[in-house]
Amino acid sequence: MFETIRSDVRAVFDNDPAARSVFEVIFTYSGLHALWSHRIAHWFFKRKLLTIARIISQINRFLTGIEIHPGATIGKRLFIDHGMGVVIGETCEIGNDVVLYQGVTLGGTGKEKGKRHPTIGNNVVISSGAKILGSFKVGDHSRVGANAVVLQEVPEHSTVVGIPGRIVKQNGVRINKLDHCNLPDPVYDICLKLQSEIDTLKNELEAVKKSGGKKDDGVKSF
Ligand SMILES: CC(C)(COP(=O)(O)OP(=O)(O)OC[C@H]1O[C@@H](n2cnc3c(N)ncnc32)[C@H](O)[C@@H]1OP(=O)(O)O)[C@@H](O)C(=O)NCCC(=O)NCCS
Repeated sequence: MFETIRSDVRAVFDNDPAARSVFEVIFTYSGLHALWSHRIAHWFFKRKLLTIARIISQINRFLTGIEIHPGATIGKRLFIDHGMGVVIGETCEIGNDVVLYQGVTLGGTGKEKGKRHPTIGNNVVISSGAKILGSFKVGDHSRVGANAVVLQEVPEHSTVVGIPGRIVKQNGVRINKLDHCNLPDPVYDICLKLQSEIDTLKNELEAVKKSGGKKDDGVKSF
C-alpha cells in the first residue's frame, strides 16, 4: 500500500512542474484525494457493498469535485490535475500513467447497455474539457485535445482534436486535414453532397443555354 501511495505522489511530480514538496502534494492535490477515496470505494464495490461504495464516492465528489463511479477500474499512477468537473463512469477502465485534466468526462452515449464507457490505454493524456463517450478504446500513448468530443476508437500514438474528434497526428506525423482517417466528418460529407448537386445544376443550365433556351427532354425554356 505504501509503495502505491509513493508512486501516486511520484506521478504528481512527474506531471506537474508546480508541485513543490511531498507535504504540499499530499495535503493539497484533490486529484490524489479522489484517487485514494476511489480505491476505498472500489474495495467495497467489489465486495457487493454497493451503497457504502456509492456513499464514499459521493462524499469524494462533494470534497473534490471529481466524480468517479466506484465500479470504475483504474490503473497505476493516474494523475488528475486540478480535477474539478471530472466524471468517470462505472464501466470505464483506465490503464497506467494516464493524465486527466479538469472537466474530462469518460462517459456513455446513453445508447449502450453493459460496458458503455471507454477503455483508456497506458500513457494517455486527456486534456481539459474533453468528452470521451462510448465503449471503445483510446490506444496507448494517445492525446486528446482540450474540449474534443471523441465518439470512436482512437488508435495508439494518435492526437485527436475537435468535435467530433478527428485524428490530426499519428506516430508524430500530421494527417491530411481532409483525410477522415476512420473518424466521420459530417460537415465535410454535406459539403461534398452540396458541391455535387451544384455541379449537376450547372451542367443542366449550361445545356439549356447552349440549346438556346430549348430542351428536348420536356424541360421548359426560361
Ligand atoms: C492536443 C494537445 C495535447 C497537443 O497535442 P500534439 O500532439 O502536440 O498536437 P499539436 O500541438 O502538434 O497540434 C496538432 C494540430 O491540432 C490542433 N490542435 C491542438 N489542440 C487542439 C484543440 N484542443 N482543439 C482543436 N485543435 C487543436 C493544432 O492547432 C494543430 O493543427 P495544425 O496541424 O492545423 O497546425 C494540446 O493541443 C492540447 O489540447 N493541450 C491541452 C492541455 C490541457 O488541457 N491543459 C490544461 C492545463 S490546466
